[in-house]
Formats: sequence, structure tokens, C-alpha cells
Amino acid sequence: MSHSLKASMIIDKSYQIAPVDERIYGSFIEHLGRAVYGGIYEPDHPEADEQGFRKDVINLVKQLQVPIVRYPGGNMVSAYNWEDGVGPKEERPRRLELAWRTIENNQVGTNEFADWAKKVDAEVMMAVNLGTRGIDAARNLIEYTNHPKGTYWSELRRSHGYDQPHNIKTWCLGNEMDGPWQVGQKTAQEYGKIAKEAGKAMKLVDPTIELVACGSSNTDMPTFPEYEATTLDIAYEEVDFISLHQYYGNRTNDPANYLAKNLDMDHFIKTVTATCDYIKAKHRSKKTINLSFDEWNVWYHSNEADKQIEPWTVAPPQLEDVYNFEDALLVGSMLITFLQHADRVKMACMAQLVNVIAPIMTENSGRSWKQTIYYPYLHMSIYGRGVALKPILSSPKYDSKDFTDVPYVDSAAVFNEEEEEVSIFIVNKHLHESIDLSVDLRSFEGFQLVEHVVLEHENLKAVNTSAEESVKPHSHGISELQDGYLTTRLSKTSWNVIRLKNS
Ligand code: AHR
Repeated sequence: MSHSLKASMIIDKSYQIAPVDERIYGSFIEHLGRAVYGGIYEPDHPEADEQGFRKDVINLVKQLQVPIVRYPGGNMVSAYNWEDGVGPKEERPRRLELAWRTIENNQVGTNEFADWAKKVDAEVMMAVNLGTRGIDAARNLIEYTNHPKGTYWSELRRSHGYDQPHNIKTWCLGNEMDGPWQVGQKTAQEYGKIAKEAGKAMKLVDPTIELVACGSSNTDMPTFPEYEATTLDIAYEEVDFISLHQYYGNRTNDPANYLAKNLDMDHFIKTVTATCDYIKAKHRSKKTINLSFDEWNVWYHSNEADKQIEPWTVAPPQLEDVYNFEDALLVGSMLITFLQHADRVKMACMAQLVNVIAPIMTENSGRSWKQTIYYPYLHMSIYGRGVALKPILSSPKYDSKDFTDVPYVDSAAVFNEEEEEVSIFIVNKHLHESIDLSVDLRSFEGFQLVEHVVLEHENLKAVNTSAEESVKPHSHGISELQDGYLTTRLSKTSWNVIRLKNS
């Protein structure tokens, strides 16, 4: 008799959460470390295109099908003059970049980034500086990027070689304005007021844009969630989204506790949703504020190394976390959490995209490669488009240092009605045992199993390097579909993607 652990799940096409907004598969490029210089842009690299962008990196980003990329920060934006980054490159100033204490040479700016985004088929999510600057710089920037022609700023853009507007539709009103590390930190009262007024001016220039207001920098901030409540109370009618940021790490080397951290993310999302809806009720408003989880990832591996970095250099290797296999599992669970909240989380940006806490790494003048976390992000971005379904899951559970009743199995499902495809994403968090899962899929009559992709590794600490990709998926998962029931064996500590299609 088998003693293996068992779990069961019902996935029914009528248990729908909401259509997945593809922007939840967004990412982020900040002028930080080697994200821009040495990452997406390296004119002397053998793979550089005519504009200096690395084609190898463009290829890796395109494979991910990243729909939207946040830019130019991050903390950096709070002391950034966007005007420094436009016009003839040789005239652009070198500046002290105060957030990360480096030198910014401004060889890439708004226009180049918009070009790069086109090359990777992504939209730009642009952030304005509400730290050292404010309404005026913000309304000028949007006139520069979005107004067709015939005015000072739109003609300046045209004189810089960009005849057509960039039409950037999504805008962040500053970044982490509650943080003491932010240049121009603001109380919620101060921030709410400037977000409202800058947002109002920006929408007067282009009423078609969507605006993201800053929430708290993370759940440990002393003013969370009051910061969100006060900001929205002031700026409710001007903004469309509130931002959430959160990073996790396995600092105490407790994998069971670490792998449960998406429960914290789940709680965070529920709290911010409730806060938005409280202000909605207070204002008797018909409008619903959605969530933009525009910074999320694992971030801790590089913390010590970053303390050794010499200040005031150009593009030093900052925040270069080397991700291991267990990080990929948590990233998979975080993505699952977004799908479970597809009704309110309408944007999310993995922070970041290249070199800086990123799924893609590069060597200056050398190779580029995929970190472990690339894979769950890839799978979800490619196969997670459609309607998010609500799996009714029954899983064995465990307790860890910070969490109780953690299901060993995490799951989300997406039904792509057009393609007649169902994708089921599953993490088995059990450190030692496989789990036999049975899935009732009877509502998907006629569907056949396409593949069961698995990311697994004996060693939770295994990493990928430029020389060797030791953590990569295979398609030999053990699954069988019979009479509307899928039976599958989920290997211990594994990320699984099970795909079905109506044939
Ligand atoms: O993504 C790295 C940094 O983390 C961002 O600049 C900032 O917004 C956050 O604190």
C-alpha cells in the first residue's frame, strides 16, 4: 500500500475569478547597477545593434513576452531630471545619481528606452519624479512623450528625431515616497496632495493615461496601510491604481518558512484591496482602484556584497542576486498568488529584468544567461493568459516559523477560451516527499493532456551560471488524463505546468 501524500482539486470552467490582465507579467528596468549600461545597452558588445542595444538580451526578453516595463526607477527617479536624458548624447550631463550613489552618464534616456521597449514588444510604464521635482516636470514630460506636435515640448521631441509621440499610457506618480531612503520623502498628506495635483495636470495633457499612486514601500513600514488610505482619500478621483512593493529572502536558511512567504503576499494584497474599498465606500464612489504590484521578487543574496561597492562609479555590479532553485519555487508561488487575485491585481512588475535582481544576467562584453527564476516567469507569462479560474483545492498542510496551515500544494489555473487551452500551475513545497494530486477536470470535455513541464532539482541551492544552466525545466512530468480526471505525481519541491487543449 502506498503512503504517499495526497491532494485533490476541482478546476471548473465556470469557477472564474476574472480575465487575467497580461500586464501582471510586467517587469522593471531602473538606471541602477548594470541594468541599463552593460545590461540592455552596451554599444561595444559584439551583439549590439545599431542603437547599442544587446540583441542577445532582446532575445531573452522577447522569449518572456514581457508586456510592460517600468522605467526609469525605482529610487533613482526621485532625483532624476528627465531632460538630462534627451537630445544629442554628447551634450548630456554626467550627474551624481543619489539613490545608488553612482555616476549617471545619461546615454540612455526616455527616447532610447521607448525604442528598446518597441524592440522587445513591450509597453513603457513611466515614472515621474515627485521627490526633487513635481507637477511642472511631470506635465512637461508627458507633453514631450505624448503630445503629437505644435507645442514647445512636443516640438522638442520632434527636433530630437521622434516625429511621432510615444503615447505612453501607464504612469507612476513617483516611487516609494514613504521611504526615508527616498530623496524627497513625503508624509501621506504631502504625497497625496502632490500625486493628486501632478496627476490632474498629466491627465489634462493626455486624458487617456492611467495613473499609479505609491502605496507603502513594504508591509513593515510603520505607516502601512494608513499611507495608502490617506493617499487615496486625497487623490481617489485622479488615480487608477495603488502600488505594492515586496521582496522576500531566505536569510535564516529555513526553506519551509521561506517557501510559505507568498502567504504574506496574499495577506498584503487582501489588506490593500480592503483599504482601497474602504476609501471607495467613504467617497460613495463608483470607481474601483486596482492594484499594481510593481516591484516584487526575491532580494537578499547580494545585500552584503553591495555594502562593499565603491561610490561614484558608472554602472557598478549592484543588486546582482544569483538565484537558486528554491528562489524559483517561491517566484512560482508569488505568480500563483497574483492569479488568485486576478480580479484586483491588474499590473505587476518583476523587479527587475536584467542584472539587477533579475531573471536575465549578462557579462560585460560577454554572455547572457537565464537565472533559475526565469523559468516560472516564462511559463506563467506564456501560458497564463485567459481567464483565471479558482481551483478548489484540498491539500495537506504544515506549520513553519512564521506561518500556520501552509498548504504544501499551491495552484492556479488559466483558461484560454480562444485557444481552447487550460494551463495549471502548481508548486509542491514539500521538502522531502512527492504528492499525488487528482484534479477533477470534467467541465473540460474533450480536452487532452498536452504536456507536464517540471522544474526540479535535488539541491535547493543549485544556481545557473554563464557556463552552466543546471536548473532548467523538462517535459517528463508524470500525469495522466482519464474520464475527466487528471492524476499527477508532483515531485518534492517542484514547479509544475500542466497544459491541456481541446483537440
Ligand atoms: O528594485 C530595487 C529598489 O527597490 C527600487 O529602486 C526601489 O523602488 C525599491 O526599494
